[in-house]
Amino acid sequence: MSFLEIRNITKRFNEQIALNNVSASVKKGELVCILGPSGCGKTTLLRIIAGLETANLGQIIIDGKDQTYTQPKDRNFGIVFQSYALFPNMTVLGNVLFGLKQRRELSKEEVHARSLEALRLVDLLEHKDKYPRQLSGGQQQRTALARALALSPSYLLLDEPLSALDAKVRVKLRSEIKTIQKSLAITTIMVTHDQDEALTMADRIIVMNNAIVEQIGTPREIYDCPSSAFVASFVGTMNVYQQKSVTYAIRPEKLEVVNRHDKYDLAVNVNEVEFKGPLTRIYASCADAPEIYIDIPSEKADAMRVRIGATMFLKTPQKHLRRWTV
Ligand SMILES: Nc1ncnc2c1ncn2[C@@H]1O[C@H](COP(=O)(O)OP(=O)(O)OP(=O)(O)O)[C@@H](O)[C@H]1O
Ligand SMILES: [Mg+2]
Repeated sequence: MSFLEIRNITKRFNEQIALNNVSASVKKGELVCILGPSGCGKTTLLRIIAGLETANLGQIIIDGKDQTYTQPKDRNFGIVFQSYALFPNMTVLGNVLFGLKQRRELSKEEVHARSLEALRLVDLLEHKDKYPRQLSGGQQQRTALARALALSPSYLLLDEPLSALDAKVRVKLRSEIKTIQKSLAITTIMVTHDQDEALTMADRIIVMNNAIVEQIGTPREIYDCPSSAFVASFVGTMNVYQQKSVTYAIRPEKLEVVNRHDKYDLAVNVNEVEFKGPLTRIYASCADAPEIYIDIPSEKADAMRVRIGATMFLKTPQKHLRRWTV
């Protein structure tokens, strides 16, 4: 059963169309990523789900109720933004307490207990008396997450919560957020423009481009069966080439390197060889395609003694070749 339904949402800012008839649904307990390039409408969609922005057309149904015009304070969500938005003059605990103190129905003891529980969840109990400036970026973002979770919201909205962090912390926090999300089974909608983040964290991904939804699916579906050339190139690396009215695409790891005496589809010239740990990426070209990426296991690349300037023979297995007609 779907917990959230986004129905035909259209949003304009003056002449600019930020969302063009966007529909999607999110199941209870799911982590869904809204993925897309800058300016495609991700934040606007999240803000409409939160009630911080009103749509021109369409409906937002939450838990079976039409909440299109419900005030944010009556929607019961927790939210975390890209910038931590912590109060610098309050401790970690103070920051978490602050949100809860607005809840009149809770006793002082309850507020305290809930805040500590939220800090325990994000593993910050031992830092509860520090001020934001004494914390790392990752710890600050975990404080923001604790503040959102302390409210026991019925769903969680995250707008690029990891993008201000350095790569290592980002990867670590990805799995931490995912673990917490799963243990609480809290329905979560997370905006990101980072395809790795979406692929590793999401149960399902909503891929957006230019104010529309391009595709909705599991990470595997999006990666293996992209529904358009845009999705194919935005999520992972894809070799895309156009021939008359047909666009062909194949992943770099699906191209097969064969012997010059075998049957091959393409003879290419090696321009660059890049060691990427377990895989080696070869940048090649031919008359029809100025840039071709080929990923092969590094051991195989070593055995083949791939050299810049050499000619390579490729097969494009039909089952991995995707086609779209324009
Ligand atoms: N308050 C506003 N007033 C006018 N235009 C706006 C407003 N908010 C967003 N827009 C426009 O709507 C479009 C979508 O913006 P949005 O912030 O949703 O993009 P985004 O996908 O979140 O991008 P980013 O990845 O850069 O955060 C953009 O072209 C933006 O300029
Ligand atoms: Mg945004």
